[in-house]
Amino acid sequence: MNELDLRTLSKSDAPMLALLEKECFSCPWSEDSFYECLSNERFCFVGLFEDGELVGYGGLVTVLDEGDVANIAVRTDKRGRGLGKTLLSALCEEAERRGVTYLHLEVRESNAPARRLYESFGFQIDGIRKNYYTKPQENAVLMTKKL
Ligand SMILES: CC(C)(COP(=O)(O)OP(=O)(O)OC[C@H]1O[C@@H](n2cnc3c(N)ncnc32)[C@H](O)[C@@H]1OP(=O)(O)O)[C@@H](O)C(=O)NCCC(=O)NCCS
Repeated sequence: MNELDLRTLSKSDAPMLALLEKECFSCPWSEDSFYECLSNERFCFVGLFEDGELVGYGGLVTVLDEGDVANIAVRTDKRGRGLGKTLLSALCEEAERRGVTYLHLEVRESNAPARRLYESFGFQIDGIRKNYYTKPQENAVLMTKKL
């Protein structure tokens, strides 16, 4: 794999974020949603680039000492090489810089790769939200990490 560049994303990155999001999720955020979030200082998105192409991204939203991992995704052909870990580390570091104490997220019950990733970072299950997801309908597992 070529050298990767990790950087904070800005509003102009919304189109490429939306494209990768569409490849990775059945209910993707739109380009407008990304644009709005990237215009809001409560959000922070980081992206991993290979040869100038976005191959993974992660988003964080914080309010006072609470934070949420909004989304994290790696391009299909780049998975299993540690990029998810790099992105989640960057989000945890940014959350700490912002003074977050509790970092939350939700994940599809059947999403074993993501659940393993979160568990390996010390996220713990604190509940289930019934039928939270659509396409297909599925429970969300709620997880929290104390920073
Ligand atoms: C979840 C996701 C971001 C992981 O990205 P990745 O780059 O493949 O992850 P990494 O290579 O950094 O692996 C990190 C850890 O995740 C877990 N993991 C990754 N792929 C896995 C798989 N296929 N099966 C089980 N565990 C897996 C492992 O614990 C792994 O650590 P290890 O290699 O030390 O065992 C990626 O699978 C993805 O983009 N999925 C689609 C989008 C998505 O579901 N996002 C999460 C929404 S909540």
